[in-house]
Amino acid sequence: MSGQDVRNIGERPTGTFTTDQQGRAVPSDNHSLTVGGPDGVISLTDTYVVEKLAAFDRERVPERVVHAKGGGAFGELEITEDVSQYTRAAVFQPGTKTPMLARFSTVAGEQGSPDTWRDPRGFALKFYTTEGNLDIVGNNTPIFFVRDGIKFPDFIHSQKRLPGSGLRDHNMQWDFWTHHPESSHQVTYLMGDRGIPKNWRHMNGYGSHTYQWINAQGERFWVKYHFVSNQGVEGLTQEEADQLAGQDADAHRRDLYDAIERGEFPSWDVYVQVMPYEDGKTYKVNPFDVTKTISKKDYPRIKVGRFTLNQNPLNFFAQIEQAAFSPGNTVPGVAISPDKMLMTRVFSYPDTHRHRIGANFADLPVNYPHFAEQNSYSHDGPMRYTFKSPAVPVYAENSKGGPHADPARANEDMYWQSDGEMVRAAATVRGPEDDEKRQASELYSEVMSAEQQDMLVNNVAGHIGDVTDDGIRERAFQYWENINPELGSRVRQKWAESQG
Ligand code: HEM
Repeated sequence: MSGQDVRNIGERPTGTFTTDQQGRAVPSDNHSLTVGGPDGVISLTDTYVVEKLAAFDRERVPERVVHAKGGGAFGELEITEDVSQYTRAAVFQPGTKTPMLARFSTVAGEQGSPDTWRDPRGFALKFYTTEGNLDIVGNNTPIFFVRDGIKFPDFIHSQKRLPGSGLRDHNMQWDFWTHHPESSHQVTYLMGDRGIPKNWRHMNGYGSHTYQWINAQGERFWVKYHFVSNQGVEGLTQEEADQLAGQDADAHRRDLYDAIERGEFPSWDVYVQVMPYEDGKTYKVNPFDVTKTISKKDYPRIKVGRFTLNQNPLNFFAQIEQAAFSPGNTVPGVAISPDKMLMTRVFSYPDTHRHRIGANFADLPVNYPHFAEQNSYSHDGPMRYTFKSPAVPVYAENSKGGPHADPARANEDMYWQSDGEMVRAAATVRGPEDDEKRQASELYSEVMSAEQQDMLVNNVAGHIGDVTDDGIRERAFQYWENINPELGSRVRQKWAESQG
């Protein structure tokens, strides 16, 4: 499997121009067929000009509703350590090499938007494993803004554009954030020195959510993925980012592509934090709340392996634009957790792929499970071109020897214990260490250097500088004062200075 090219080269021969519909030679690529001489009307019976224009008219699929601007590359994951005591997944067994795809992106910007806008960066990985495709669809930050997927559409609306003017708007952004104090950790990260990466090669990635690993004995663990850049972590100042946005909107896409063309293959070391299943019930921070990290002191990072990106796409549209990731794509030995963001994401991704790409998106070479079998009873639907022998029945159960489920594999599935009423309520808070502003405050006061703190204050005050609504601006100051009074007063003062 290692070294296989999963890019599926769909190259066509060069030579005489032929039509897509028929493969028939085309008499002219310059002149439409006209009735009544060169100045006459174009005939609809010129099937070639009709096909050419109709194909062009349909060249786009809708852009991703979020993470529309991005780029990616193919590569390989190699497992250098033995973590078999935590997971039975074939992809994580020592020495295993697995072909993969990575896609990096911004969140709020559209297809043509600058790569250097301040935003988290998507960090989506697809591993073509022998047990099916495993996707880890995270960001370059270990946390997120909100903790229940029911809030995600509101959050994204506030980061995108005003319905009337079509402009982005800092009033909306701060109005949303200040109404959701659980966003404080992610916003502190976003406004800090890591808020705009130098490029995609110089950023870490995180699975962000807690996932589940299951070993060969059926023991379960809660895990968090960390992908540590071997290029180092470097960020841009706001000024550098603004300048680059004007000079080269595609700076990050270009950087990755050019580095791989030069043979400088970026790599990331893969680590996991592992928490025994029972600890998940009592740990001081709710591990299923994606707005919080789990302390590395309590659960140190354990090395797993390394992935390297060494092949550029051969066709951006077929292999990057139509790539379809989903956090629900797990393999035996890996499962999701009761994180309410993660559970809603498991629904949303295949749902949006059916809308964006089509019902049979999984048949496209970039999404296909190259090293496992597709063997279900689903069939037909738009653009389906693969099919089974007519002798295979189209329903289960059947007496014809068709594919059947394997109940023995039930313990490879997600599992957790929960009891209690059916409720609409926030995830349980475990105590003072689980406070929603605490980790943001600690990031500022205990993790950041004085220089990084200054940068945070400048970035926040600058960002609030574009808030025009006095009430929302005041809410923003209070948001920071509630996180950390000293930080809050510095932000207020810095903003006041900028007003002269
Ligand atoms: C892309 C929904 C939370 C990371 C997307 C897409 C949707 C979506 C609809 C577009 C996918 C496509 O068209 O191919 C949601 C929902 C969320 C959520 C409903 C919350 C319930 C998150 C979180 C993270 C994340 C918490 C990271 C920790 C990504 C990434 C992509 C993406 C990296 C781009 C994937 C790619 O490169 O194709 N999300 N998202 N999302 N999302 Fe989320």
